[in-house]
Amino acid sequence: MANPLYRKHIISIPDFSREELELVVDTAGRLKQQPRGDLLKDKLVASCFFEPSTRTRLSFETAVQRLGGNIIGFADGGNTSAKKGETLADSIKIISSYTDAVVMRHPKEGAARVASEFSAVPVINGGDGSNQHPTQTLLDLFSIRETQGRLDGLTVAFAGDLKYGRTVHSLAQALSLFGARFYFVAPEVLAMPDYICEELDEKGIQYTVVDSLEDVIPEVDILYMTRVQRERFDEAEFKKIQGQYALRADMLKTARPGMKVLHPLPRVDEIAVDVDATPHAYYFEQAKNGVYARQALLSLVLNETV
Ligand code: CP
Repeated sequence: MANPLYRKHIISIPDFSREELELVVDTAGRLKQQPRGDLLKDKLVASCFFEPSTRTRLSFETAVQRLGGNIIGFADGGNTSAKKGETLADSIKIISSYTDAVVMRHPKEGAARVASEFSAVPVINGGDGSNQHPTQTLLDLFSIRETQGRLDGLTVAFAGDLKYGRTVHSLAQALSLFGARFYFVAPEVLAMPDYICEELDEKGIQYTVVDSLEDVIPEVDILYMTRVQRERFDEAEFKKIQGQYALRADMLKTARPGMKVLHPLPRVDEIAVDVDATPHAYYFEQAKNGVYARQALLSLVLNETV
């Protein structure tokens, strides 16, 4: 079968079909079970992070190196010629002339799409402002299937910052291809954006907006927590809602036995440390799965057959 992701830009979850998402999840599962050291041999990947990152950048770098590839790049756009006024278009033209793929995180929504228009090689979006984080979604899907045994027909609650949280936008769009049912648990000021709700309405996906985290815990297969993003927020407003919708271990007594708590991380105070020792905590394994999901994606983008 032809690999539909070969040489494709990876910018946004709506660009993926259900079959393409399943292909990445299946490939990640194979690479977790049977590690390979050769799939990126002779490939050079650029890692261009104009915004801070721990997991996305380092898991991409780990993925490339463990598959036998090489990586160049920067972790701070302030040390590049962007600081001298070079446009993103010019920077990407140059970087893509050196490498086989460009992984990029940028604070501006739409920056990855712009980069893809000027790049000679595939661009992989590592997060663009509050818009999309498609590779996080791939590792989330992988973690969900690993824990639930399926992607179809799950009940998922998203809690916290649903307005600026790019990971929840991407994941809600992806799970809508698998007939999910959603609960959105957030203060009004951080509600899921209208454009996502409208997309769900068009697809006939059910969602319910609720105030109480405790009310949804017994109902869900996955509780997806998010951080209120201080860096995207007015400080006075941040203080008002900080700590609201925080999860503690005692709140999980009513959870289904197989329910898992996911979080893209970093967490601040929205998941108490006592949750870590419960059988519901899966966020650290989820972050580890980032390596396998990104190995799968890079292998598929850079090889005609995997
Ligand atoms: N989940 C995530 O994107 O984490 P980083 O910001 O550390 O990359």
